[in-house]
Amino acid sequence: MNFGFGQSHAKAHLLGEHSVVYGYPAIIAPLLSLNCKAEVISSDQTLIETDNFSGTMYQLNYRFSGIYSLLTELLKFFQQPDLPFKLHIKSNVPSKKGLGSSAAYSVAITKAFFDFFDYQYSDEEVYNFSQIAENKNHGKSSGGDTYAVMADGPIFFDSSKDATILKLDTEAYIVIADSGTAGLTSQAVKLVADNYHRDPKKYGSYFKEMGAIAESGREEIIAGDLVDFGDLMTRNQKLLAQLGVSTPYLERLIKIAIKNGALGAKLTGGGLGGSIVALASDKETANQIKSALSQSGATGSWISKI
Ligand code: PMV
Repeated sequence: MNFGFGQSHAKAHLLGEHSVVYGYPAIIAPLLSLNCKAEVISSDQTLIETDNFSGTMYQLNYRFSGIYSLLTELLKFFQQPDLPFKLHIKSNVPSKKGLGSSAAYSVAITKAFFDFFDYQYSDEEVYNFSQIAENKNHGKSSGGDTYAVMADGPIFFDSSKDATILKLDTEAYIVIADSGTAGLTSQAVKLVADNYHRDPKKYGSYFKEMGAIAESGREEIIAGDLVDFGDLMTRNQKLLAQLGVSTPYLERLIKIAIKNGALGAKLTGGGLGGSIVALASDKETANQIKSALSQSGATGSWISKI
């Protein structure tokens, strides 16, 4: 019996979501404690199982057409389009919370199938296959999430769709807090696109400024200047609000994080709900921010060293 395993993790955008869809850079950190694991085994009947779905390819196509397309292309690539299999996915990455759950699924599944067929793959091949699902899920995907859910350190994702790991000399932590409200990335990307098409000059200038913020962020990380990096996160948040993807509750959580010692805070991912990310220079402050956010109603919170 053949067996294949693949794993990935969550991510948080430190800078540059949305503008990254328009070709500007982004800085994205992995969240290694939230992960997604996929296992494929040979079987005489196809069955796909996740925490909230169990069914055939046909049924999958109705609920998760991105994953369906990805599986179809993977089987085609290995010239076994009708091969029956059992795919089991276990993920503790909260979905629709700006933490890259759909990219985490796509990468874990792609790696599991490559392993199943004993295929020696490159990150680029994992990226290309995973993007089949991501593009279908989000309408238009930058590809940044896909790299970040494979990376073991914060990445600078640039306009040529290349990712470089940023080395940080100083100790730094991020606190993630889930607002408890779902934020659908495809809806947020569409809202921003509609705004942009209505007023390209205004929204184009926001994207440009966000791109410049991400460029500066790379310099601050390399220089180990967390105070300035935190300021950039807060400036980026103001622009995200102007794009129309923040919410009053996200703004409230951001304020609470800053009041409790965060060097900067912003929403992460698509927005319209989902999560915030706050920067802390030490573990004690990170813990204080985390408990303040939980007390203010965040439904989940995590600390990650970056
Ligand atoms: O909401 P998430 O975790 O899927 O992140 C989306 C990030 C965007 O920049 C809004 C879209 C993209 O494709 O990069």
